[in-house]
Amino acid sequence: MSDLQFTHHGRLRHLLTLEGLGRERIGRLLDGAVQLRDEFRSGARSLDVLDGRTIVNLFFEASTRTRSSFELAARRLGAFVVNFDIANSSTTKGETLEDTIATLEAMDSDAFVVRHKENGTPARLAAHARRAAVLNAGDGNHAHPTQGLLDLLTIRDHKKRIEGLKVAICGDIRHSRVARSDVHGLAAMGAGEIRLCGPTGLLPAADEFPGCVLFDDLDAAIEGVDVIVMLRIQKERIEHLPGLDEADYFGRYGLSRARLARARADAIVMHPGPMNRGVEIASDVADGPQSVVLEQVANGIFARMAVLVELLKKHG
Ligand code: CP
Repeated sequence: MSDLQFTHHGRLRHLLTLEGLGRERIGRLLDGAVQLRDEFRSGARSLDVLDGRTIVNLFFEASTRTRSSFELAARRLGAFVVNFDIANSSTTKGETLEDTIATLEAMDSDAFVVRHKENGTPARLAAHARRAAVLNAGDGNHAHPTQGLLDLLTIRDHKKRIEGLKVAICGDIRHSRVARSDVHGLAAMGAGEIRLCGPTGLLPAADEFPGCVLFDDLDAAIEGVDVIVMLRIQKERIEHLPGLDEADYFGRYGLSRARLARARADAIVMHPGPMNRGVEIASDVADGPQSVVLEQVANGIFARMAVLVELLKKHG
């Protein structure tokens, strides 16, 4: 699936997953995001790098952060943005996604930002696209590559490196595309130890992440770590969810201030959102001095700008 991401010259053609992207290319995207952030914060509100390009947001699943941040990223680069209205589109009359893409490409669309509940839908559309780039904005539990990039950027901002860090990703790992993209990105960038923690039923199969250490005890998982990523339970992706006692879950798997003290004193707390306060994270941790949740949101725009530039800039 990831071979689709590259042209035969080895350039990035689509962004479908961080798996196989490699340390150098990810590092360049992070550096690009920092440069765009510096330019924006020094007063350049519109950079016009993608002047006249057309980017279509195709969100078949709900989103607050990813959709608005892709839109802002595209607009700050000078592109036109179409927020495709799925509910009022001809997909409701039986038009296939392939025909939808072909139709929008005939209108000179340059990129599609796709979120879908089915794993592999962005790759399917990438295989079908004639000219336009496809950016995965989250597919099922498979991948959320721009979330992975913005998470790496936020970690690097705070720790000045990723290499050698101890990172704990905690919660519903099994159904999380964020966990998968974070693991791929962290591993590529040389993280020292990646711990995955959750109740047994929400952990991935033991062989899915060979380089990671699995924990079912949150206290043990966060002992001495540099970074904690908390995840919500992705109820929409769990077919048979037994009744969840939220207070009990918080007692065993929620990040409280007392628990956070087990991590390094300078540990940062991350969450991709949306957060369920009082379930996987206490409000005073989510809003506390170690939380970088809103920095993640802000960095999301610059990470996505860097990806759009990489995919859509003119070559030679
Ligand atoms: N982190 C994330 O993907 O959030 P949204 O679902 O709001 O886009």
